[in-house]
Amino acid sequence: MSVVALVPAAGRGERLGYGMAKALVPVNGVPLLVRAVRGLLDAGCVQHVVVAAPPSDVDTMCTVTASLASAGGAVHVLAGGAERTDSVRLALEYALREIPDTRIVLVHDAARAFTPAEVIRRVVEAVESGEPAVIPVLPMADTVKQVDADGRVVATPDRAALRVVQTPQGFAADVLLRAHASGVQATDDAGLVELLGLPVTTVAGHANAMKITTPFDLAVAEALLAGGSA
Ligand code: CTP
Ligand code: MG
Repeated sequence: MSVVALVPAAGRGERLGYGMAKALVPVNGVPLLVRAVRGLLDAGCVQHVVVAAPPSDVDTMCTVTASLASAGGAVHVLAGGAERTDSVRLALEYALREIPDTRIVLVHDAARAFTPAEVIRRVVEAVESGEPAVIPVLPMADTVKQVDADGRVVATPDRAALRVVQTPQGFAADVLLRAHASGVQATDDAGLVELLGLPVTTVAGHANAMKITTPFDLAVAEALLAGGSA
């Protein structure tokens, strides 16, 4: 049985503003994609990684990840799609077509390059124990308001019942395939599983699994590395 990690890395990184695919932006000389793929393989429970690259960066992403494949894991690179959901669907279809016995699928943003191995293992273990969909989460630090189109507050959800969602999200392969068959666009694959009416369960995430979106986030990642905590 194979655990396959799909890594959507086909975004343009516009909010980071480096003028290149965010996954290729280096932190201390090592591209985010390399850190993310290495983290998945080093967790010891992932046999294949499928990277969805911007079509113009497929060759570059092949080159930078080539040295990461080992006896314990293989790396595949293909062209992603226009939206994140398209990239995930293309990588999933590739995995189900090309990788024998794909039973568990993780979806892990290249932008969450500093996710600790313990989070990856928790997600895989929960899916292995029979959960159809598993997401790593953190408690909310801030109060959250729901507002209307004019920015007027309409509700204050109970913060204690809210969670921030990270990746990798883990799924039984057939469940993720059904979820993506709907063709709905979502920033969150677990949301598609919820639409099927199937249970989604949570495990503990980690602050280091933050998504690098803005220059501020990149500065935080650099500080984590400099301080030895990533
Ligand atoms: N992603 C993807 N295919 C797309 C769009 C996004 O595979 N068409 C990936 C990104 O590469 C990233 C993850 O989905 O790893 C989360 O997306 P986001 O953080 O929004 O990254 P970007 O789309 O690159 O950034 P921006 O929205 O600022 O352009
Ligand atoms: Mg984006």
